[in-house]
Amino acid sequence: MINSQYFIELEERYGAHNYHPLPVVLAQGRGVKVKDVEGREYYDFLSAYSAVNQGHCHPKIVNALVEQAQELTLTSRAFFNNKLGIYEEFVTQFFGYQKVLPMNTGAEAVETALKLCRKWAYEIKGTPEGEAKIVVCEGNFHGRTTTIVSFSVDPDAYGGYGPYTPGFIVVPYNDIPALEKVFAENEHIAGFLVEPVQGEAGAHVPDEGYLKKSYSLCKKYNSLFIADEVQTGIGRTGRLLACDHENVRPDILILGKALSGGVYPVSAVLADNDKMQVFRPGQHGSTFGGNPMAAAAGIAALEVVRDEQLAENAFRLGNIFREKMNEICKKYEICDFVRGKGLLNALIVNNIKDKDIAWEICLKLADNGLLAKPTHTNIIRFAPPLIINQAQLLECIDIIDKTFCQLADSR
Ligand SMILES: Cc1ncc(COP(=O)(O)O)c(C=O)c1O
Repeated sequence: MINSQYFIELEERYGAHNYHPLPVVLAQGRGVKVKDVEGREYYDFLSAYSAVNQGHCHPKIVNALVEQAQELTLTSRAFFNNKLGIYEEFVTQFFGYQKVLPMNTGAEAVETALKLCRKWAYEIKGTPEGEAKIVVCEGNFHGRTTTIVSFSVDPDAYGGYGPYTPGFIVVPYNDIPALEKVFAENEHIAGFLVEPVQGEAGAHVPDEGYLKKSYSLCKKYNSLFIADEVQTGIGRTGRLLACDHENVRPDILILGKALSGGVYPVSAVLADNDKMQVFRPGQHGSTFGGNPMAAAAGIAALEVVRDEQLAENAFRLGNIFREKMNEICKKYEICDFVRGKGLLNALIVNNIKDKDIAWEICLKLADNGLLAKPTHTNIIRFAPPLIINQAQLLECIDIIDKTFCQLADSR
């Protein structure tokens, strides 16, 4: 019989086991909800790690993609196409930068930013060849390439992949004195790469002022402030960019995920001419980066964010969510508190006695019609599509409350 188990077994047998999904097999998504192959409906409280901010299969974005797919899908950058320039004008104006470099995945965009930063250091700042250092944060998650995992502190992401790329200095997150010390003690720091809120680390929000102060340190030492907004950007935290909360304009901005509303891999690096000029023909690129489908999806996805005021919705509903969830947390021993910004939130679970309680909670939430996933053993990320409305959000909070209640009864 073709049921969920059939598809799970296929993946088990033929796919590499580099993920540990919840045992739910999805077949359809519309708006804030998804359906499994048995026809059961769930609220999606992960949004494909914040890629589906605009909701599943947003008709405007899907139509743009489908229409473009019938005209022209890929030229490579060997030739111009009639969509890329229009997208480049749109996206640079949307985020207020002079130039964009289009890529596909978040990790590729991060790699692009690191290369841009190093090359800027050698060609513009005057750093001696091979000496450029980039400062990164403990708890970071920037993707899975060999260079990126070289500065990961997560043993699963890092272990077994050496030899590692040198040239990175890891500092504690949300620690200005530590950052200041690194700048003072190291010559040749080309840039500081930071997530304005650490997503994979469990919606870790730094203290107010952290971004502004770290930006100022970058300016003091003539280094570039590089914001990885792959997860936090495009409305997720209640502003278009999470850096907007502190009025910080990154020297290099990295975007991905919701840049296409989750319909296609689209990522981008934005910067001004004084930096982007260091890339000349043949020095960086990608066959698919900037293809006509990505360009069409990118414009439509950003128009949806703007026209449906998704950042504003995330800001308002995020406040309601944290307030209500923290009241609920007081009732149950298994949950400690909820933190986050906008609609990027995480529940911190009290699992001192029981290692798998976050996983158990997620299984029970799925039984009750809501999909979320643990990030680490004691944190569950809650990140619904930003098109969610207040009534739906309150229904989801009730599902979470009911789930905690059932788990408390069964213990
Ligand atoms: C902050 C951040 N940067 C980069 C990435 C990597 O993106 P991708 O999985 O598209 O390579 C992610 C993915 O979760 C992310 O959260």
